[in-house]
Amino acid sequence: MRLDKFLAESSIGTRKNVRTYIKEGAVKVNGQVITEPAIEINENIDFIEYLDKVVDYRGKVYYMFHKPAGCITATKDEVNKTVLDFFHEDNMNGIFHVGRLDKDTEGLLLLTNDGEFEHHLMCPGKHVEKKYFFVALGSLNEEGIKRLESGISIGEDGVLTKPAKIEIAKHGSYKEFEEEMDIRKFYNMESNCYNQLVVSGYLTISEGRKHQVKRMLKAVGCYVVYLKRVSIGSLMLDESLEKGQYRMLKEEEIQKLLGNL
Ligand code: URA
Repeated sequence: MRLDKFLAESSIGTRKNVRTYIKEGAVKVNGQVITEPAIEINENIDFIEYLDKVVDYRGKVYYMFHKPAGCITATKDEVNKTVLDFFHEDNMNGIFHVGRLDKDTEGLLLLTNDGEFEHHLMCPGKHVEKKYFFVALGSLNEEGIKRLESGISIGEDGVLTKPAKIEIAKHGSYKEFEEEMDIRKFYNMESNCYNQLVVSGYLTISEGRKHQVKRMLKAVGCYVVYLKRVSIGSLMLDESLEKGQYRMLKEEEIQKLLGNL
């Protein structure tokens, strides 16, 4: 493997930065300063140092995380708990989240140190589908459903959303939802609003505009009180993961997400 690739994949820096470090003489291979980024090394045998510290080769890593509500999708923050605070790996340098979920949104979030993987999933041209389960105050009629499916204006720019898929799971009163799924956990309403209509279902979108699901549903008169991402492309949230837990993606899952299988 090339020396610059090895250092970038070990989270020393971006490919561009590590080339500079190498040229500046900050990198040693088997005790010798090497200033040629393209030199081939063997990551299983050679001994690489950056600023006189041994570099552990990690390669590319891919995690599935069950994000709980209450933490923010960021790598660091002075005030809020971040998604990275849930990880117990020795070295999380260079690992970032693929896209974002709002602080109060739960569900499937991917993290990686592979920029190309992120690009593949996030690039608007790829239209990777993301499916969300929602519970919202309000109700959805045929016209609302058609508008969500065909494209709807959700902001000042007037640009319509791309066609979406919607499946209604249940229409009912706040009281019925409260009995079934303890909706109070998400939304505290006065008891005299027990007859307020509530709708739950799945919305699948292929874009990533800010607060998109909440804004789409608001545009048809529904106020989201609970949101959970259940899948990205072919990958479903592993329901054996408790909120706040994570696991490595399997090779097959990675290849499917990349469209190679
Ligand atoms: N849409 C939203 O409104 N919020 C999210 O967290 C994700 C999609």
